[in-house]
Amino acid sequence: MKIAHFSRWGFLMAAAGSAVGLGNIWKFPYIAGEYGGGAFVLVYIMTVAFVGFTVMIAEMLIGYLGRLDNVGSFESLAPRNKEKWKFAGFMGLSGTLVMFYYSVVIGWIFYYIGLSFDTLPATIPEAELIYNTMLTHGLWTQVFYHTIAFMITTAVLMRGIKGGIEKFSLILMPGLILIIAGMLIYAMNLDSFSRAVEYMFVPDWSKLTSEAFAVAVGHAFFTLSLGMGAIMIYSASLPKESNIVRAALFVISMDTLIALSAGLVLFTFLFQYGAQPAKGPGLVFISLPAVFHAMGAAGNVLSVLFFVALAFAGLTSAVSLVEPMVQYLIDRWKMTRAKAAISMGLFFYFFGLMAIFSELESTSQLLTWGGRNFFDWSDYITSNILLPVGGLLMAIFVGHVMEKERVASVLRTHMGWFYPVWYFNVRYVAPVALVFVMLNLMGVIVF
Ligand code: PHE
Repeated sequence: MKIAHFSRWGFLMAAAGSAVGLGNIWKFPYIAGEYGGGAFVLVYIMTVAFVGFTVMIAEMLIGYLGRLDNVGSFESLAPRNKEKWKFAGFMGLSGTLVMFYYSVVIGWIFYYIGLSFDTLPATIPEAELIYNTMLTHGLWTQVFYHTIAFMITTAVLMRGIKGGIEKFSLILMPGLILIIAGMLIYAMNLDSFSRAVEYMFVPDWSKLTSEAFAVAVGHAFFTLSLGMGAIMIYSASLPKESNIVRAALFVISMDTLIALSAGLVLFTFLFQYGAQPAKGPGLVFISLPAVFHAMGAAGNVLSVLFFVALAFAGLTSAVSLVEPMVQYLIDRWKMTRAKAAISMGLFFYFFGLMAIFSELESTSQLLTWGGRNFFDWSDYITSNILLPVGGLLMAIFVGHVMEKERVASVLRTHMGWFYPVWYFNVRYVAPVALVFVMLNLMGVIVF
């Protein structure tokens, strides 16, 4: 049972906090770089607008009407086959598995905040060495910072929706927005800004392979926090009489604006100092620090601010990844919030350690199967399988299972003429898009 509700702003900041995460600032620029820029960005934006928006409304609606933990919401809203639909609710608990690697990456960011106060690496090879040493030999460094990420996340979750998540987001999100906006203004005054704009917005269709297409669609879901029950569990604490259509539009706009701004800032800096855009996961940890070095003292300040913003983004998403499980344990297993938060914290903490070990040179062999280590598997399984399946079940549930009138009664007034378009999308377009992503990412279809 939900006791405390979000305030209106509290919800918007918490939901935007969930959406704006490592996906926006760490992942988006490097995958846009890897898959060639413009065309990729365009597919991503179209998916966010047409499919992401549709599924976000569906996910919010289930939470908003169900008002229980995710399993309970599916169960109570299913007109029949309640026992079966309960399992869709279990899919909505899978966010905690994302934390196996997410918490480790937040740890790296903390480490880099510390490094930013010191002398930054002067060249890319030097930066590469720092990053690789941390990854393959830095057991204690990584464990130390992963522990801090675990402690902050768990402490916020223990304080609940109102005193924890809402308060935390109301402080961190405005901070993050200010930093990114400030950096964008700074980047706009550099010569390479126009090149960055061109790189991100002028499509070169020849670079759009089917894989790039599927990654763009998949990332659109990940970045909006869809399919994992995070948005659903927050929506269960919305005040009655909220306008979820407006809320979804706000969250999506914020998420997209921050991703695009982060991309523009990063590419401007990279071009300005002659670094390569296609650098993979190391982009912000390798190319960027070397670029900051080239900027002199201002670089150190920018570096601290950048990694602080990244940490803020990561932490507000982290709490949303675990909250569905915490609420489930409270509602179904009758645990106290403190106990639920600590058990789930320890759960991802332990597997996070495995992710660290799976990257270390001395132990990676033991934790690698089929060409992927534990760290990569937890990303692969959550992003490519659990998330699309979760999103698919939500779209089917709202589009084909829930009573039509029930869905319409909430949305029709807020959507007006657009309602039939949305309903068609949630019934047909979103499921087809999700099945496509899944099959493509699993290598079943390639064109
Ligand atoms: N949206 C977050 C990001 O961009 C990640 C996330 C996915 C959070 C799913 C919650 C649920 O980093």
